[in-house]
Amino acid sequence: MIVLKSQREIDAMKQAGEILAACHREIAKRIKPGITTWEIEEFVDDFLKKNNATPEQKGYKGYQYATCASINDEICHGFPRKEPLKEGDIVTIDMVVRYNGALADSAWTYAVGKVSEETDHLLKVTKEALYKGIEQAVVGNRIGDIGHAIQTYVESEGLSVVRDFIGHGIGAVIHEKPDVPHYGLPGKGSRIKEGMVFTIEPMVNIGRYQSKMDDNGWTARTIDGKYSAQYEHTLAITKDGPVILTNQD
Ligand code: MF3
Ligand code: CO
Repeated sequence: MIVLKSQREIDAMKQAGEILAACHREIAKRIKPGITTWEIEEFVDDFLKKNNATPEQKGYKGYQYATCASINDEICHGFPRKEPLKEGDIVTIDMVVRYNGALADSAWTYAVGKVSEETDHLLKVTKEALYKGIEQAVVGNRIGDIGHAIQTYVESEGLSVVRDFIGHGIGAVIHEKPDVPHYGLPGKGSRIKEGMVFTIEPMVNIGRYQSKMDDNGWTARTIDGKYSAQYEHTLAITKDGPVILTNQD
């Protein structure tokens, strides 16, 4: 069942999203060679506390951290750790913020210092793919239109779309209906309606799209060791179009 949200619920999620976006802007300033994802984790914990918000991921299905920190070939759900980031690395910081009972979810990939041209291309295409998906998130379209736009664009740039992890409705809990794959066929899937709130969060790989799971049972990484990036926003569907609840600009 897809739960449609009232304007009041969307406004509350927007407030959570604003805190999350402000947190990402602070992270952007701190990412440089030598910093650890453990320091980012501690920064986020502290930032949320100061803003009367809480990290929803901590304790979710047994996950232990406020952030997911996925480095280089890690696709998603990397653990924050005490190993310093190096020039040329990329790191995706993903988190869900709860504020006043409402949730928002956003992930962003950061370049550590100067990255290779190939990596830079990966970041640009992945971010653009998110916005191409958002463009399709309009009343009357279907969920498949979003994935189709993302997949077509990403593959036209010679990169691949991860299939094993997808976007999702969000509301009272992190994961609700609808499922939002970042691949697929136009005109397929549920019709997009006013009041839906869901994430679009394409994970894009330089090499093959398949993933493998680490022994920790959480962290997914590429099978060929090539890099993977991700950008994620939480969106509310209104009759005037999609509203990005986690906008950083
Ligand atoms: N933020 C993630 C998403 O985009 C959810 C992470 S689940 C967790 O779907 F357990 F790792 F927190
Ligand atoms: Co997320």
